[in-house]
Amino acid sequence: AIDSNFEVNRERVGEEDGVAVWGPVEPPEKQGIRGTHVAVDFDICLADGACLEDCPVDVFEWTDTPGHSESERKANPADEDQCIDCMLCVDVCPVDAIDVDPG
Ligand code: SF4
Ligand code: F3S
Repeated sequence: AIDSNFEVNRERVGEEDGVAVWGPVEPPEKQGIRGTHVAVDFDICLADGACLEDCPVDVFEWTDTPGHSESERKANPADEDQCIDCMLCVDVCPVDAIDVDPG
């Protein structure tokens, strides 16, 4: 499961399309955690897609991660600012790749 303390345990190494990237990032195998309020561990996500289908405000969009062993696309929390903290995505992800921090 995603480490819900990633903001303490990981280093913010950059930003992609306005979404924070938390390392380590060593493509293709290490893709890091993306997002802050809504965070997705790209190394755990296996492209199930339930989060994209179920999020009522369409926070997620697919992004390609060619060569990653779990899946070659990931759910990027591109519109995390729109999140209404319903927690549906956290509940439906089969591999607990998502952390939402209502704080
Ligand atoms: Fe979407 Fe709800 Fe998840 Fe926020 S908590 S990203 S609104 S499904
Ligand atoms: Fe990935 Fe979980 Fe969504 S596996 S696509 S974060 S439901």
